Amino acid sequence: MLERVQDAGDMTLGDWLDGQGTSPALAGILHHFADAADEIAARLRHAHLHGEQQAAGQINVQGEEQKQLDIIAHDIAVEHFSTLPQVAALVSEEVPDLIVPERAGPAAPFILCFDPLDGSSNLEVNGAVGSILSVLERPLPYGACDEAEVLASVPNQRAAAYVLYGPATLMVLTLGETVASFSLDEATGTFHLVESDLSIPETANEFSINMAHQRFFTAPVAAYVEECLAGETGPRGKPFNMRWAAAMVADVHRLFVRGGIFIYPALDKPGGAKGKLRFLYEAHPMAMLVEAAGGRAISGNKPLRDHRPEGLHARVPVALGSREEVERLAGHY
Ligand code: AHG
Ligand code: MN
Ligand code: MN
Repeated sequence: MLERVQDAGDMTLGDWLDGQGTSPALAGILHHFADAADEIAARLRHAHLHGEQQAAGQINVQGEEQKQLDIIAHDIAVEHFSTLPQVAALVSEEVPDLIVPERAGPAAPFILCFDPLDGSSNLEVNGAVGSILSVLERPLPYGACDEAEVLASVPNQRAAAYVLYGPATLMVLTLGETVASFSLDEATGTFHLVESDLSIPETANEFSINMAHQRFFTAPVAAYVEECLAGETGPRGKPFNMRWAAAMVADVHRLFVRGGIFIYPALDKPGGAKGKLRFLYEAHPMAMLVEAAGGRAISGNKPLRDHRPEGLHARVPVALGSREEVERLAGHY
């Protein structure tokens, strides 16, 4: 058997959370996210044996076709989160309304927003997919835990994490100060620390955008991409590479390793003004992670985390990644 290589000894997610002085209530949520991810990872590995990578024959609140695994991952996440009395409500990509678990106490402080399976169009090609979680704290005094209260909780973001189901199952997590990564040991269902202080390189030469939308780019995005494409002959004076994994989790994970920029912009076409990605469970958690790692996250030319969504499933244009790249894009507005 291979020995595990660790930069901080054999530290589990639980050890790391203890070391950060995480409150038991918040740590419990992150443990349940890890347990849900362990279960989802196992279902993904066997999905093709049961045809679960295929369409479920339903359309979700986004008007997108659900895969069987979208629903399975949603059910697993809801099951794990619903047992926690500190959780007042859940927002999932896969259902239109707020979920209020029976166990939730009236003074439960936390609201969880999650994308159970991100990049699920990759399922049929056995490509990378992920799960995303944002932990919000309800503002005091507690009212009825309804949509308005969820939206009022946006400034109180307490944690963000994603799990990337690739050749390895990796979790990347922040409580706001630093970003740590963990790898799942499938034999025990335990996440072990891989890196305790991830940072996004300030400069980079990779950009990530769906170029099939080029004809709909607004002027600032078109100008930024044009400069990248011009490479060493343009104002950037260096060649750029382009990557698009079609799963935000996989594209953002690459930022933590190699730097660069991920853009899902507003598109100049009917229905395109807000781009595609959803604020509460895609853009907002990724922005917290990227900023905690020294990167930047914007929507248009404004800080993404200052944005206030108009609904649980509201979309928002997103650009995030290396400081220099995001500032350069912002400069084109
Ligand atoms: P989801 O599968 O949760 O609906 O998310 C898919 C999102 C995001 O992960 C990815 O960046 C983007 O959609 C890909 O969009 P394109 O269809 O433009 O490639
Ligand atoms: Mn998604
Ligand atoms: Mn999804």
